[in-house]
Amino acid sequence: MCGIVGILGNSPAVPRMMESLKRLEYRGYDSAGVATVTSAGLNRRRAPGKLSALSDVLAAAPLEGDSGIGHTRWATHGEPTENNAHPHQTERVAIVHNGIIENFKSLKNELSGTGATFEGDTDTEVVARLLTRYLEDGNAPRDAFQATLARLEGAFALCVLINGEENLMFGAREGSPLVVGTGQGENFLGSDAMALAGLSNQLIYLEDGDWAEITRDTVQIFDRNNTAVQRPVSISQVAATMIDKGNHRHFMQKEIYEQPTVVAQALGRYLDPINGRVKLPDAPFDLATIPKITLVACGTSFYAAQVARYWIEKIARVPVDVDIASEFRYRDPVYAENGLSIFISQSGETMDTLAALRHARAAGQHIASIVNVLGSTMARESDMVLPIHAGPEVGVASTKAFTCQLSVLAAFAVQLASAKGRIDDAAVAAYVAELEHAPTLMAKILRKDEEIEAIAQDISGARDILFVGRGIYFPIAMEGALKLKEISYIHAEGYAAGELKHGPIALIDENVPVIGIAPNDDLSGKTISNLQEIMARKGKVILLSDTDSTAADNMYAHFQMPTAGDLITPILYALPVQLLAYYAAVEKGTDVDMPRNLAKSVTVE
Ligand code: M6R
Repeated sequence: MCGIVGILGNSPAVPRMMESLKRLEYRGYDSAGVATVTSAGLNRRRAPGKLSALSDVLAAAPLEGDSGIGHTRWATHGEPTENNAHPHQTERVAIVHNGIIENFKSLKNELSGTGATFEGDTDTEVVARLLTRYLEDGNAPRDAFQATLARLEGAFALCVLINGEENLMFGAREGSPLVVGTGQGENFLGSDAMALAGLSNQLIYLEDGDWAEITRDTVQIFDRNNTAVQRPVSISQVAATMIDKGNHRHFMQKEIYEQPTVVAQALGRYLDPINGRVKLPDAPFDLATIPKITLVACGTSFYAAQVARYWIEKIARVPVDVDIASEFRYRDPVYAENGLSIFISQSGETMDTLAALRHARAAGQHIASIVNVLGSTMARESDMVLPIHAGPEVGVASTKAFTCQLSVLAAFAVQLASAKGRIDDAAVAAYVAELEHAPTLMAKILRKDEEIEAIAQDISGARDILFVGRGIYFPIAMEGALKLKEISYIHAEGYAAGELKHGPIALIDENVPVIGIAPNDDLSGKTISNLQEIMARKGKVILLSDTDSTAADNMYAHFQMPTAGDLITPILYALPVQLLAYYAAVEKGTDVDMPRNLAKSVTVE
């Protein structure tokens, strides 16, 4: 959740750290801070709020030094005040941390009992005091760091500087990602490839239990038994220039409008349009023998899983369970022997989803993951990885990752159906042709964005907004509601259209806009009837449909969608609901890319 950067460099560290923190702000923006080590000792600057507040502090009181650590925070323990901001520092050490130290209370009691004092309420400060205690006991830095790690329980990534050691930095990973970046006479640590974009493209991902001792010229990695280990070096695909808003006002806006391009890019990796085939990466299992599929994810990725269930069951006739990751392990799921569990995550680091993946692995399932971040933990722990190739997604509200996830899942469903012998080659080729057409239709929808903008402005004053759809459009309704509430703070819910009369219709009056998602298919007649029931109770219905305008008679508004094949239609309907949320948020003046209380990557349970 928090963003971490560490630099042992040869030029002033603060400007480089601030550039990196700018790219990391999507991971948390409750407070930010930096510390450097020089011959004069450790020094830090911290500020509650966004990174701009820290910039102001640094402008007034600059920090020198070529080596430093920096942090953007998503608060877990302790309010987002300056005292709770990282780095946490004692006279001996400065520390930044991502994750949760679960046994911090007992450690705090122990340290308080021997005279340690604490300035804030965070679990991280306990680590700083504990390491200080081991150094004060006369341990060498490496021994003190090892002894500290041995006492910590929970999930964490740590980056540490030590007073008097200008050419030394420690990092450790347990549950929360941490990556080493190597350079020419300088080395780095970061919470992900984004942190290190522009600093290094040679990355070494630490594994759980690993810790690293880093100087400008050396990187030594040890496992949890303190045995020296080699971890593979990978080349980062993330360039600093990719993480740029361009001419757009917000990252979310840029990412919405990128969708025709990135979906085409994603499909390009999975479709062979010349031969009318789907090509999936190699897997150590045979799709033809998979008896059941379990899809697990959180948030928007969970709604992608729900859409995929319709595709997989309808086209491939394979039973599918779909679960919210944070609930999955606790319901003691019944797995099918030889079953395939698929974990969907933009970041590939979401702790709930990762824990579910490990549960399924322990139960002997085949493991596949659908991720955007290639070197992510989920990707590394899967038997088969289906990357979505969306490029870095910075806006906290997931947009292009959703449509790319859907595109990959649609291709997967078609390939599974083919492997199972449920559809013939001609049907596969027809689906491939349909998928190939999606980017063109997406661009067509985006060209009409002004219509959606006007609707969004009109309804942005509402207190509650409902989204309704049937069948495969029910998850799209829920995704629309999630998008709207997370960035505009308007209360919104997504319902199955037929379910409204069982309770939620009591909410309807002339102040409640209802977004009806009703493509012209075999269910649209029923959905339109449900929308009529809403209108009869004075609800303001806004219809998203390719149906002709007579069906929209007396409705408050109608956004005309293009007609498309069944497979790609849900992908297309994601766009107007994203635009609606975006323009409603802009109208309300909220912080679109960094909505309150949220962070992009949720690495705590
Ligand atoms: O990185 P992941 O896909 O695992 O993230 C899952 C959710 O946290 C994420 O989709 C979240 O719901 C978004 N903010 C929704 O826009």
